[in-house]
Parts: sequence; C-alpha cells; structure tokens
Amino acid sequence: MKKIILLAMMFGLVATLTTKGAEAKENWTTLCAKCHGADGKSDTKIGAKLGAKDFTDAKVQDSFKDEEAIKTIKEGKKDKDDKTLMKAFDQLSDDEVKALVAYVRSFKK
Ligand code: HEC
Repeated sequence: MKKIILLAMMFGLVATLTTKGAEAKENWTTLCAKCHGADGKSDTKIGAKLGAKDFTDAKVQDSFKDEEAIKTIKEGKKDKDDKTLMKAFDQLSDDEVKALVAYVRSFKK
C-alpha cells in the first residue's frame, strides 16, 4: 500500500515538472495556432489577413518586449480603428501567459 502511495506521489511530481512546457504547447495549438501557425510564422489565412507577424524573424522578436507580449495576450490587441486584431485571453493564468511568451520566444531562429 505504501509503495503505491509513493509511486503515485512520484508520478505527480514528474507530471508537475513537465506540464509547463507541454501546457504552453497545448495552449498554443488550441488558442494561438489558427492565427500564428503551429510554427509561429503566422502564415495562416486569418494570420495573414490580420497582419500577424512571423515570430521566427529576429526583427519581429525584437519589436516587442516580454511585458508587451504579456499585455497583448492578457488584454488583446486592437488596430487604430478599434477593430480587434487579437482577442484577450483573460482565462489564462499569469504562469500560463508567461509560459506562452517563452514559447513564442522559442520560435526565433
Ligand atoms: C485572431 C487571430 C489571433 C489569435 C487567435 C492570436 N493572435 Fe497573437 N496576434 C494577432 C495579430 C494580428 C497580432 C499582430 C498585431 C500587431 O502587431 O499589430 C498578434 C500579435 C501577437 C504578439 C506580439 C506582441 C505584440 O504586442 O504585438 C504576441 C506575442 C502574440 N500575438 C501572441 C499570441 C498568443 C500567445 C496567442 C494565443 C494565446 C495569440 N497570440 C492568439 C492575432 C492573433
């Protein structure tokens, strides 16, 4: 019985240690990829239409700070005519948002 509990605890620990990266990828795939593409190039139909940028481009990566990316993900982004470019993802926790920013950074070539 004790062994089972110990084993369960170990699995729990491994799971918490590995979820961060996996979670960011999952959030990216379900929430972000339709515009920004699975590979971050934003070359999807909607991405191109809305003018989303290529995150593999170092110049694009340099064009916004982490804090700006966090704000964009949490509060969304509108163009000058108040049209929504990217909606707010306010259901995400701070940690999830930070993990997504790190994920976005990982596209840089
Ligand atoms: C409906 C399409 C759409 C979806 C879905 C979307 N984005 Fe965006 N995103 C955009 C557009 C368009 C821009 C470019 C806005 C600009 O630069 O003017 C953008 C910009 C960004 C930026 C650049 C930061 C900035 O302030 O310009 C980041 C980082 C970003 N998105 C991350 C994400 C993440 C993470 C998700 C998923 C949680 C996501 N996006 C979902 C359309 C989208």
